[in-house]
Amino acid sequence: MQKGEMNGMERALIQADTPREELRRMVVALRSRLQLDVALNRAIPASYLRKQGAVKRFYAPAPQRIPVDAADRPEQTLADVREELGDCRRCPLCKTRNNLVFGEGNLHAGLVFVGEAPGADEDRQGRPFVGKAGQLLTRIIVAMGLQRQDVYICNILKCRPPDNRNPRPEEIAACEPFLIRQLQAIRPKIICALGTFSAHTLLKTDVPISLLRGKFHRYQGIPLMPTYHPAYLLRNPGAKRQVWEDVQKIMKAL
Ligand code: URA
Ligand code: URA
Repeated sequence: MQKGEMNGMERALIQADTPREELRRMVVALRSRLQLDVALNRAIPASYLRKQGAVKRFYAPAPQRIPVDAADRPEQTLADVREELGDCRRCPLCKTRNNLVFGEGNLHAGLVFVGEAPGADEDRQGRPFVGKAGQLLTRIIVAMGLQRQDVYICNILKCRPPDNRNPRPEEIAACEPFLIRQLQAIRPKIICALGTFSAHTLLKTDVPISLLRGKFHRYQGIPLMPTYHPAYLLRNPGAKRQVWEDVQKIMKAL
């Protein structure tokens, strides 16, 4: 065999969708994520990284996060971000999705809601929060004296995980950079994280949502209010009172 020629084993390994190709995609996604973290001077608490088994020496202890301002904001519009995302193939969810769900609403929204991932209805329509939980979110927005078109609504993941299983770390790594850019393009006054998964991903913590909710935290310098997910409210209507308290705090701050 000549130098530079592949043997059968090597050929098999580099075929698309082999574990090797999957690993390559993961490395690409992870690199892009880390570059973005560095570019944004994004602080990730060391305790979180240790728990995730991350290599400790890669990150110095989290520096004090500098607020995002015009100076460190890439000149990307939402349309640019959407274009860059394209017909995304960065993680395996592209194989099972029907529609990518980018997000929708006011490009200059003061308030952005961030959910978990599209469900079946969202995957079918290509729009966020349009199923049962979405209808409840819409009612919450109206109760706040707003309309859906006044706010921006998106998710951590743009594609539906099969059977609505929880998002996987490599899926988040591939997708979160686009959420970060969306939020940078909009620069909302307030972010509302809907549910455990959204709050944990954005705040890099695993403190229970019941303890996180009701207080403003910070994400990229922007006040972030975690609250219960509308799907949780459908199963636990008693928690609506707390969500109402949380959104009243948002209304006051807007
Ligand atoms: N649940 C979510 O987290 N997001 C949606 O878009 C719909 C349901
Ligand atoms: N568990 C969740 O996953 N989300 C909530 O909002 C509350 C409990």
